[in-house]
Amino acid sequence: MNDTGLVGAQKTLSPVLRAKALDNRLPDPILGDRYAEEAMRGLDPDYDKRRFGTSQMGLAAVVRAKAHDDWARAFLAEHPDAVVLHLGCGLDARAYRIDPPPTVDWYDLDYPAIVELRRRFLPPREHYTLIGSSVTDLTWLDRVPRGRPVLVIAEGLVPYLTETDVRRLLTSVVDAFPTGQVQVDTVAVWAWRTSKWDPTLRKYGTRFHCGFDDPAVLADCHPRLEYVDEAPMNDSPELMAKAPANVRRAYRLLNLLPGLRRSTRIVRFRFIETTVDGH
Ligand SMILES: C[S@@+](CC[C@H](N)C(=O)[O-])C[C@H]1O[C@@H](n2cnc3c(N)ncnc32)[C@H](O)[C@@H]1O
Repeated sequence: MNDTGLVGAQKTLSPVLRAKALDNRLPDPILGDRYAEEAMRGLDPDYDKRRFGTSQMGLAAVVRAKAHDDWARAFLAEHPDAVVLHLGCGLDARAYRIDPPPTVDWYDLDYPAIVELRRRFLPPREHYTLIGSSVTDLTWLDRVPRGRPVLVIAEGLVPYLTETDVRRLLTSVVDAFPTGQVQVDTVAVWAWRTSKWDPTLRKYGTRFHCGFDDPAVLADCHPRLEYVDEAPMNDSPELMAKAPANVRRAYRLLNLLPGLRRSTRIVRFRFIETTVDGH
């Protein structure tokens, strides 16, 4: 990677972006994100030149991005006046892929160093604001308009936060908005507990700080928050239909290992306004 000045969890944006960039080269891509290819080349001009440089094993992360996009598009079709809070956005080009109508106000949030990189590698947009802040310093919420439906998307972020911070974030968002949808992904408890030995995370000098065997429990953060459903990742029909044959075979085998099929869970919650009597 170029000398980008990124540290720890910030560096984890790179393997996800690389997977999205490589997906765009498939004859029939899952996400088809040309911005990912451009941003990845900017971040690391040699990203595809090293050993395993063009391996498509990262495609499960692309499936995760597609699941978040599909849920987001459905929510925005029903709520064209929404505010989108895309938290821990990294260099993901979701706002460009979804290209919402001008009635939607989109906020991309990540650490200031990442926001700087976004300004270098991604073009400006209307109705789009970058916030350079840790998501855990909740004063950033004061910069966002209230009183409208909210769509919260946190892709690949929750494992880097403590459970206390995740719960505080969810509670604050539900308290701040009348109605909304929250989309997150979480890792299993075993993946969290063993993360200090994970070679990729070790390379970046980071680890996971929380994990859930049943992420639906996060709905108990707030009486208005409800668990809705889950999208598949490592065994998703899209992965099995579109990944190259060697990648499909590898995932079929990996999915036989206990815990691996559901090592990451992509889940959706929603909340609505309550009346005076609490219903
Ligand atoms: C695995 S990357 C995912 C990036 C992007 N969501 C994607 O899917 O391409 C994790 C991202 O979370 C961000 N992140 C981790 N902890 C954060 C925090 N406390 N506040 C803001 N961003 C955070 C990192 O900087 C990084 O960009």
